[in-house]
Amino acid sequence: MQQLVYLLLKVLTYLLIRCSPLTAVEGRHFHHGVMPPTSNPAQLRGGGTSVNISSPTQAPSPQEARLENVNGTLDPSQAQALHSLGIATGPDPCNTESHHTLICDRGVPYRHLLSLHLEYCTEGAILPSSAWLQLSSLQALNFEECPARPFHVPLALAHSLESLTIIASFGRSVSNVMAPPLPGSWLGSFYNLVEISVSDVQVNASGLHAMVSGMKNLQRVSIMHTNLRGVLPSAWPSERVSQLHLSNNELGGHIPPSMAELAELQSLDLSFNGLQGELPEELGTLQNLQYLSLSSNQLSGQIPNLVQNLSSLVYLDLSNNQFSGSIPSFFTNMPNLRYIDMRANKLEGEVPFTESFLQGLNSLKLGGNPGLCYNKSIIVMSVALVEGVMECEREWPAADAPSPFNTAEPDDDDADDTFSAMHIRQRGPNKAIILIALALSCTVGAILTATLLTKRCPSKP
Ligand SMILES: *[C@@H]1O[C@H](CO)[C@@H](O)[C@H](O)[C@H]1NC(C)=O
Ligand SMILES: *[C@@H]1O[C@H](CO)[C@@H](O)[C@H](O)[C@H]1NC(C)=O
Ligand SMILES: *[C@@H]1O[C@H](CO)[C@@H](O)[C@H](O)[C@H]1NC(C)=O
Ligand SMILES: *[C@@H]1O[C@H](CO)[C@@H](O)[C@H](O)[C@H]1NC(C)=O
Ligand SMILES: *[C@@H]1O[C@H](CO)[C@@H](O)[C@H](O)[C@H]1NC(C)=O
Repeated sequence: MQQLVYLLLKVLTYLLIRCSPLTAVEGRHFHHGVMPPTSNPAQLRGGGTSVNISSPTQAPSPQEARLENVNGTLDPSQAQALHSLGIATGPDPCNTESHHTLICDRGVPYRHLLSLHLEYCTEGAILPSSAWLQLSSLQALNFEECPARPFHVPLALAHSLESLTIIASFGRSVSNVMAPPLPGSWLGSFYNLVEISVSDVQVNASGLHAMVSGMKNLQRVSIMHTNLRGVLPSAWPSERVSQLHLSNNELGGHIPPSMAELAELQSLDLSFNGLQGELPEELGTLQNLQYLSLSSNQLSGQIPNLVQNLSSLVYLDLSNNQFSGSIPSFFTNMPNLRYIDMRANKLEGEVPFTESFLQGLNSLKLGGNPGLCYNKSIIVMSVALVEGVMECEREWPAADAPSPFNTAEPDDDDADDTFSAMHIRQRGPNKAIILIALALSCTVGAILTATLLTKRCPSKP
């Protein structure tokens, strides 16, 4: 009976996690409920004129471009290049108010393109290299649903381009299943990028290193939903990376100590990969890290002390891993922390959080850790935050002392059962009857909810 209830709860948790807006990954949409401070969906998608050109040396905002030199026209050779790319423009592309696909500079006598957005290209279209050669004034290029063939990248374009966004373009994607995967070396040829954003396209690369190793100016990396394989690089091409978003790929191996090279890192998202092992101590040197998601990997071990060194941390997501041991009490000393998600791990013992700490949090998620409990004489007001965690039945040792269950193998599935069994034994016979009654009603409820959720939860690719 007890195992049945547990199983049902597991199924329910799984469904809830799959359906919850925090983890639901729909198409190209960024899957976080909370955006890391350095990125917003518009910036990531870079749609149309909203491309945020990273080093805004000359790049004017579209409004500026329209206000000043409104009468200047586009360089005829660039207009011709746009034409040969199949981009229908009016007689004066730079000044067409309704046109959101391009941004021009303020050049005299002719203006030149700074940013270009192509979408919904013809499948298998050939975008001639000669046209790109004419467009080597471009700093930002954005392809969305553009299943054209990868083109030969002229050196002049590779040199000028600082921002490249590829969404479901050039390679195999959900909407273009017949195309071969996009060669990682093609992306690698844009060696001067400050910002690379690739999503919803299969890439053929042995790893991240093969793609970005030549990009010495890299600051923002977003490669998501791409089946990217391999391990994280043991050395980074640029130490100025402030954003590294690699979620929903097939990365494996450990998180390497080389992460410490990225001293300016503010936002790190490695969620939904196959990363294993313990977190390296070196992560603790990332003083600027505000957003950290390691959700849905196979990371294990205790939550290490290095986490307390991440003094800028606002958002921490360790959910859906194999983290074990107790929750360290140092979290209460992390001044900026607002969001904590540790759902579905193997954490155990008493939740060490005080009321005052909990009241400063925006969100806490601890469900799915069967060995975890909270002390109802300490957590009184904020009970809603410890939803899914049961009340402690007996005294637990202080949070930082090793818990008696730490001796159990982290991967030992019996550990959970042993723990629950102990709880049952501590309860009186009356409590046992109530428990069974509760379990029965829970079972019915769970089955109903599960059925409902299965119907409502859209199947993911
Ligand atoms: C571009 O980024 C800068 C700083 O990162 C920010 O101040 C600015 O508002 C952004 N512009 C747009 C259009 O998002
Ligand atoms: C643009 O051209 C029109 C007529 O050709 C002229 O009246 C106007 O002053 C020009 N504007 C600028 C900013 O040069
Ligand atoms: C991936 O790239 C390798 C070498 O670059 C090539 O041999 C292989 O055929 C490619 N795979 C696919 C599926 O295109
Ligand atoms: C935390 O930072 C301090 C100094 O800021 C350093 O001495 C210590 O080794 C760091 N600990 C970890 C676990 O990174
Ligand atoms: C809860 O906390 C109070 C106060 O620290 C302590 O006296 C009590 O034993 C704790 N209860 C449990 C079940 O750990």
